[in-house]
Amino acid sequence: MVWWFYVPNIVFGEDALTELEQISGKKAFIVTDRVINSLGLAEKVCRILTERQWEAAIWDGVEPDPKVSTVKAAAEAIKMFGADWIIAVGGGSVMDTAKAAWVLYEKPDVELHALTPFDELGLRKKAKLICIPTTTGTGSEATKAIVIRDDETGRKFATINPELTPDIAILDPEFVVGLPRNLTAYTGMDALTHAVEGYVSVWKNDFSDGCSLQAVKMIFEWLPKSVDNLTDLESREKMLIAACLAGMAFGNSQAALAHSLGHSMGSVLRTHHGMSVGMALPYTIEFNCRGKENEEAAKQYSELARLIGITGKKPETVSLKFAGAVRELMKKIGSPQSFKEAGVKKKDFNAGLENMVDFAMMDTSLTMNPRNIDSEEIRKMYRYMYDGTVIDF
Ligand SMILES: NC(=O)c1ccc[n+]([C@@H]2O[C@H](COP(=O)([O-])OP(=O)(O)OC[C@H]3O[C@@H](n4cnc5c(N)ncnc54)[C@H](O)[C@@H]3O)[C@@H](O)[C@H]2O)c1
Ligand SMILES: [Fe+2]
Repeated sequence: MVWWFYVPNIVFGEDALTELEQISGKKAFIVTDRVINSLGLAEKVCRILTERQWEAAIWDGVEPDPKVSTVKAAAEAIKMFGADWIIAVGGGSVMDTAKAAWVLYEKPDVELHALTPFDELGLRKKAKLICIPTTTGTGSEATKAIVIRDDETGRKFATINPELTPDIAILDPEFVVGLPRNLTAYTGMDALTHAVEGYVSVWKNDFSDGCSLQAVKMIFEWLPKSVDNLTDLESREKMLIAACLAGMAFGNSQAALAHSLGHSMGSVLRTHHGMSVGMALPYTIEFNCRGKENEEAAKQYSELARLIGITGKKPETVSLKFAGAVRELMKKIGSPQSFKEAGVKKKDFNAGLENMVDFAMMDTSLTMNPRNIDSEEIRKMYRYMYDGTVIDF
């Protein structure tokens, strides 16, 4: 069997942005959102290029959890401008919009819903892609994945294609210094969920394992520091690297149940992606490690647990302690552990529950979960997650 490991060229560290002085091209189209644009981050990129006689344009039309229509608008703007480089400056929403718009710019007939990992797109005939993350979580700068929202149903769908791996990822800590406390916590939980799910996914491999192990170790060490001190460049840089490593991990092995549950929460209740998948993570560990038939997953969680000093003989017990440690971390950084804590009203939860269950069952991440789950169990899990009850089934 043949396997591949896809990653972009990664430039990191203070002054990583100066990499832009090394690339050759003429026309850069910068994709961003209004918040990031108002912080002057897109302008910083633009200036480096225009000083070197490039033509550059900034498009700041991305919204959180971007819709297909937003992607189409971005693609149209890129076409009008005629870029040879597309540069995403933003969080996962911006980077996914840029990736998807790039596909439509090069291949206008592609139906994003129908895109599969096996399609030969033939990208890079018109432009290449640089991603500069401004959040420390999604790792989209290192993945071949996009997550887009359907305009009609509101359902977020994730798809992968190897050609979507960006050409260059620039990890410059200056770009995440302004990230507020709650988003630092939530996006950090997204990174942890990628690292953990990448390690237990049925597509795990030795390369993704290496990235997961280092990412888990770094996130437990640096996420609390990064949340406590928003201007500390060292912890910001470490979280940028950890998030990218976690992206390299799950991007090459895939996410699992916590992402199916989280995507569906985001689709129906419009909760932040990292907060949603992070909230789901400990419950999914408790579900996946249970019983003799799930001992393999329990052993894998135990290996992660050992990294943060948790020991014990029985893998299931160690895994449950690991889920407890994830809950502790969430408490420390102020990331909600239940729908209730996240401020979701019971009536909104009940009204959205069936939709969440249906969407979770359709989510591609479910395929890679180490334990099979049916819709009744997903419904039950969501109900446990409402109050914060530890999974016992
Ligand atoms: N493609 C992938 O591999 C992948 C992986 C995980 C998540 N995702 C997707 O990414 C999206 C979530 O991305 P995200 O968590 O990075 O958030 P985001 O991009 O949706 O941004 C959330 C908010 O944070 C603001 N923001 C971003 N950077 C900031 C900064 N430096 N300072 C101040 N505010 C800033 C944005 O303007 C926005 O209002 C979801 O749609 C999710 O499904 C994609
Ligand atoms: Fe994620």
